[in-house]
Amino acid sequence: MTKPTITTALLCSLLSMPLLAQPQADSPEAMVAEARSLVKSFGGSLKQALQAAIKEGGLTNGIGVCKTVAPEIASNNSSGGWVISRTSLKVRNPENTPTDWQEIQLLAMDRQPVKNGKPVEVWQVSEASGQPAFQYMSAIPTQKLCLGCHGKSIAPEVKAKLAELYPEDKATGFSEGDLRGAFVVTRDVPVN
Ligand code: HEC
Repeated sequence: MTKPTITTALLCSLLSMPLLAQPQADSPEAMVAEARSLVKSFGGSLKQALQAAIKEGGLTNGIGVCKTVAPEIASNNSSGGWVISRTSLKVRNPENTPTDWQEIQLLAMDRQPVKNGKPVEVWQVSEASGQPAFQYMSAIPTQKLCLGCHGKSIAPEVKAKLAELYPEDKATGFSEGDLRGAFVVTRDVPVN
């Protein structure tokens, strides 16, 4: 029973945390678990909202969900220092442009978006900005549902609406299974 204690102590001292205060809350494992659950909840809500909007008013109606509801759902799922967003190698909205680190991860994910039946994920704890920051990414493979707005043949009215809202749109031409992008979850690691 000594081994786990040593590992925990090591992890805690690595993160310069007091051992007794919330022993595991800020361990990389705990943060990855939290990031996964945020992605699950954000991804699930977004897909539901998208499906409902398309059912109600077609793809052009769905565009509105991606434009306004996606950031809303993202901010509802972001709290306590946690922030969730989406990025891609080919963005529709330039605000979703990846950072250098994110771009490197996306390039690797692009070669293999799914491993053992699960979207590829990656994380790091970086001190590049002076403040230790946890960052997690999870690949988003293209599904059938996405093709109407991100695929190779897009209906003229959808194309027109996208061109109006996103003059710099690069997010078309995808096939099912291609990497569409990634969820990004970040959090500042508290320094004690
Ligand atoms: C009804 C049209 C529509 C459908 C269907 C759709 N999207 Fe999008 N998608 C958009 C729009 C519009 C944006 C830009 C949102 C914004 O302004 O942030 C977008 C943005 C994204 C982004 C953020 C990166 C970027 O390109 O700016 C990702 C990732 C993404 N979509 C993935 C998907 C996936 C995965 C699916 C299928 C499950 C999907 N989309 C289905 C319209 C759609």
